[in-house]
Amino acid sequence: MGLEFLDIFEKWANEYDLTVEGHDEQYKDVFLRYEEILQDVADRSIGCVMEFGVGTGNLTKKLLENNRKVIGIEPSPPMRELALEKLGDKVQIVDGDFLHFDEQLLPVDSMVSTYAFHHLTDQEKEEAIRNYGKLLQCGGKIVFADTMFETKDVFQETILQAKKKNFFDLAEDLEREYYTTIPVLQTIFENNGFDVTFTRFNHFVWIVEATKQ
Ligand SMILES: C[S@@+](CC[C@H](N)C(=O)[O-])C[C@H]1O[C@@H](n2cnc3c(N)ncnc32)[C@H](O)[C@@H]1O
Repeated sequence: MGLEFLDIFEKWANEYDLTVEGHDEQYKDVFLRYEEILQDVADRSIGCVMEFGVGTGNLTKKLLENNRKVIGIEPSPPMRELALEKLGDKVQIVDGDFLHFDEQLLPVDSMVSTYAFHHLTDQEKEEAIRNYGKLLQCGGKIVFADTMFETKDVFQETILQAKKKNFFDLAEDLEREYYTTIPVLQTIFENNGFDVTFTRFNHFVWIVEATKQ
């Protein structure tokens, strides 16, 4: 479970970097300040880092520039290939996902991800965070950037606005995948022993920084 959207990335892989640069009108606002968001996640990470949903390796590149040791986890073979093309042999990128990965790659000091955690249902998000809470030491960090909403009403209004602009791909994406709300995520993190903060970067994307107590 959690891998039901992989087909989309098999097809999107080659065009993905054009989308994040703002070439797709429908996704322009989702990827607004993309480079800044990734840099902020890289700057908040500490020590040895495990990155989930590496994609084409854009966050990985910033982590390496910050001199972090990085273990990348990515379930899509074409995405893994593109990331390795971009990064060469400076990094280990292995098959796996938020819920299933080789725990022999641990310990790490932080777990990071950008634009990927919404592939898990809220129940799966809870399962993942519970597991990370057991695997991280006190002071260990989770830093995730992703689309999320302050309330369900804001989420529904965003879908409505997308449809009004004829952004049907975006509206379909918002309805298909598992975008959540900040109160839901806050409860999940706090119930699993994390202090958590949320920082907004555009209408869609917030950075969640959670520190293990
Ligand atoms: C929108 S891309 C984000 C890529 C990159 N992190 C970035 O910020 O540009 C989402 C990535 O998450 C991966 N993915 C999909 N389901 C996943 C899962 N359950 N666990 C981990 N990664 C997943 C996809 O293959 C894809 O590479």
